[in-house]
Amino acid sequence: GTVVLAYSGGLDTSCILVWLKEQGYSVIAYLANIGQDEDFEAARKKAESLGATKVFIEDLRAEFVEDFIWPAIQANAVYEDRYLLGTAVARPCIGRRQVEIARREGAQFVSHGATGKGNDQIRFELTCYALYPEVKIIAPWRIPEFYNRFRGRKDLMEYAQQHGIPVPVTPKAPWSMDANLMHISYESGILENPKSHAPADLYLMTKNPEDAPSAPDVLEIEFKIGVPVKVTNVKEGISKDSPLDIFTYLNEIGGKHGVGRIDIVENRFIGMKSRGIYETPGGTILLNVHLDIEAFTMDKEVRRVKQGLGIKFSELVYNGFWYSPECDFVRHCIAMSQVNVEGKVQLSVFKGQVYILGRESPKSLYNEELVSMDVQGDYDPCDASGFIRINAVRLREYHRLQGFPSIK
Ligand code: ARG
Ligand code: SIN
Repeated sequence: GTVVLAYSGGLDTSCILVWLKEQGYSVIAYLANIGQDEDFEAARKKAESLGATKVFIEDLRAEFVEDFIWPAIQANAVYEDRYLLGTAVARPCIGRRQVEIARREGAQFVSHGATGKGNDQIRFELTCYALYPEVKIIAPWRIPEFYNRFRGRKDLMEYAQQHGIPVPVTPKAPWSMDANLMHISYESGILENPKSHAPADLYLMTKNPEDAPSAPDVLEIEFKIGVPVKVTNVKEGISKDSPLDIFTYLNEIGGKHGVGRIDIVENRFIGMKSRGIYETPGGTILLNVHLDIEAFTMDKEVRRVKQGLGIKFSELVYNGFWYSPECDFVRHCIAMSQVNVEGKVQLSVFKGQVYILGRESPKSLYNEELVSMDVQGDYDPCDASGFIRINAVRLREYHRLQGFPSIK
């Protein structure tokens, strides 16, 4: 049979490629470009030299931003109050193209290099089963013949040497990384001890805020339907207006000023805790700024309902349910809440922080006359007396039962 392997160019998936061939499969290598720093042409040559029958290198960066990162921004998506889901939103994007290729090439199998203990296996496979139900999945890290043979990096290196797989020349970082346009995540290895601090040279996308420039960058970001349509660097006169350019530019500015580093312990879907370090510079800027323009343009009660949907959305995405009916439903509701989320926010980025400076919007619900202490507006202050007394009814009855405080 034919298998489409999600190939990264690294040691693990190179060994998997050759191992699948050994098992009698014809292997199509598929490498998604979602903004990771990678020599894609070198990876193509490598896959070809290892005996892949075809190699697909797919530039998914624009669709990753528009179809996956933008909905996450609209949702203010954050998992367990801190993680911005940079890996989780990439998986349905990678998986979607993988099954498209499998269908087109008539491949009955897909394969990936995710481990049997993580979230990624679930995200990949739920995507595959949802969009290509007949597909058969080969997850080598869950197959005893595979994982008993490759018990560690040493076994992989040996196998690589025996099978003409180019062995990495630079020593591997003592942790595992997952990089894309939205973030880089670091976990396992020496980071498994939750007490050990991340070394200073771990971070690849962001500067240490302590070493960041001593002058801020001042930006203006314009939103329509809850997504940025233009970013302008006010002092430098630089301006970007395509989704990919906007996001890339915000990564650059956020990275330069050390925005978006976190070190957390999170709950994996399968029930174990895991320690992870993340840097999400552009995403962190957008989260802050989107929250601001949303608060300015969205009705109070709609906002409360929508906030709950955002939490639900984040859990669904984390757990791999992007292509579920409930996630479709939640995404549509959230998108509907964004129709009037438009306007411009001015902000500065400085020493790891995002500072909102001001905002303006044609859809603003902020009524300067109504809130003003100096003008009456369409509002009768006498009405507030009754409003407060009615709200006090419950409080009074509660304390009647407790006994009112008396001077001792
Ligand atoms: N814990 C994060 C998540 O589940 C990051 C996973 C990183 N994945 C990886 N293949 N290194 O989304
Ligand atoms: C993996 O296990 O492949 C990476 C971590 C995760 O998926 O959670």
